[in-house]
Amino acid sequence: MLHKSLMGLVLGTALAATSLGFAGTAQAQTKEIQMLHWWTSGGEAAALKVIKDALAKQGYTWKDVPVAGGGGNAAMTTLKAMVAAGNYPTSSQMLGYNVLVYAEAGKLGDLTDLAKSEGWDKAVPAAFQKFSTYDGKWVAVPVNVHSVNWVWINKAVMDKIGGTEPKTFDDFLALLDKAKAAGVTPLALGGQDWQEAILFDDVVLSTGGPEFYKKAFNDLDEASLKSDTMKKSFDNLAKLKAYVDPNFSGRDWNLTTAMVIKGDALVQVMGDWAKGEFHNAQKKPGEDFLCYRFPGTDGSVAYNSDMFAMFDVGADRKDAQVALAKTTMSKEVQSAFNVIKGSVPSRTDVPDTDFDICGKKGIADLKKANDGGTLFGSLAQGYGAPPAVTNAYLDVVDKFFNGQIKTSDEAVTQLVKAINDAK
Ligand code: BGC
Repeated sequence: MLHKSLMGLVLGTALAATSLGFAGTAQAQTKEIQMLHWWTSGGEAAALKVIKDALAKQGYTWKDVPVAGGGGNAAMTTLKAMVAAGNYPTSSQMLGYNVLVYAEAGKLGDLTDLAKSEGWDKAVPAAFQKFSTYDGKWVAVPVNVHSVNWVWINKAVMDKIGGTEPKTFDDFLALLDKAKAAGVTPLALGGQDWQEAILFDDVVLSTGGPEFYKKAFNDLDEASLKSDTMKKSFDNLAKLKAYVDPNFSGRDWNLTTAMVIKGDALVQVMGDWAKGEFHNAQKKPGEDFLCYRFPGTDGSVAYNSDMFAMFDVGADRKDAQVALAKTTMSKEVQSAFNVIKGSVPSRTDVPDTDFDICGKKGIADLKKANDGGTLFGSLAQGYGAPPAVTNAYLDVVDKFFNGQIKTSDEAVTQLVKAINDAK
């Protein structure tokens, strides 16, 4: 199933080999870390600074290659072109199955010795090692664990409308109705395919429950994909359209979070990188904003983890790459970085002391879900299936949300077809 995505990479190989011929003689960059990522919002930049600063203290310089766009689609396009030209970054932010695509194409380096000496095998849950290792070798490091089944609520607006925590999807609709009646935008949504798909991931998890989510969005079980439950999930997604403001189309996720921070909207459904924006605006959970699991999904965690994929960079850049990996995985950086980023550590041995109440809940939820079999890869965020399938999914959800696909019946038919074609 990885093969569709592999094709583009393999096509670039001949070119890469030619340009490496002369790149190989340049030894000048030993202390430089070239990092491709999509962390361009205020909260994201503040979190990344923790890693940059820790490396600067060790004498490493940072060459930033930022490519905006959550979910990283734009970043992945830039990366593909760089790799095809033989211009490997030291490392790139990557999600889930993308790491495996680059590993399978032979583009990633080997950090197994470092992993062994640092004890990563024991500290990092198997669910994430599935994506940070390939063929028994460590090829990437999981910087964090995010999850997408959260809602972020402005507390002053919540108090004003007399709202309480919504526990079910119907509760959620009732809460949104209250905001509407009070003249506040109920649901802040950024109308980009990946943001709409995050919303749909959550709606499916809420509508069908954990087992259904796994079967449909991790196992790609066709009967589940074409089931009445999936149709009902599309019906539920359609209901949410009524609560979005007229300017939602194309809006960036962080500008959407800002609507909730300012009290222009009640709630955003988004991964916990949204909390990084609240944190960056000096807002406090419980006082200024509230974090709840998406109604009907408490007990499950639909995750994505930012991996730093490590390219096969050659001896002259290896030392800097090892420093990046080691620093990123240190317990201190895992805590300091994730407190700011809104995510939780990928290691299970990092204390939750410095985290706020949302972070503490995130850490506890992750442990419970990992122990209890309710930890699922987010399909919207590259952890449910290989990239071609993810892209097919984003496309169908986007067309449905924007009215090009008109009914839930048609959406289900298109979803099954698109996923089958992409496999
Ligand atoms: C990444 C997050 C990032 C978000 C928005 C997600 O795909 O996992 O780290 O903050 O996109 O840019």
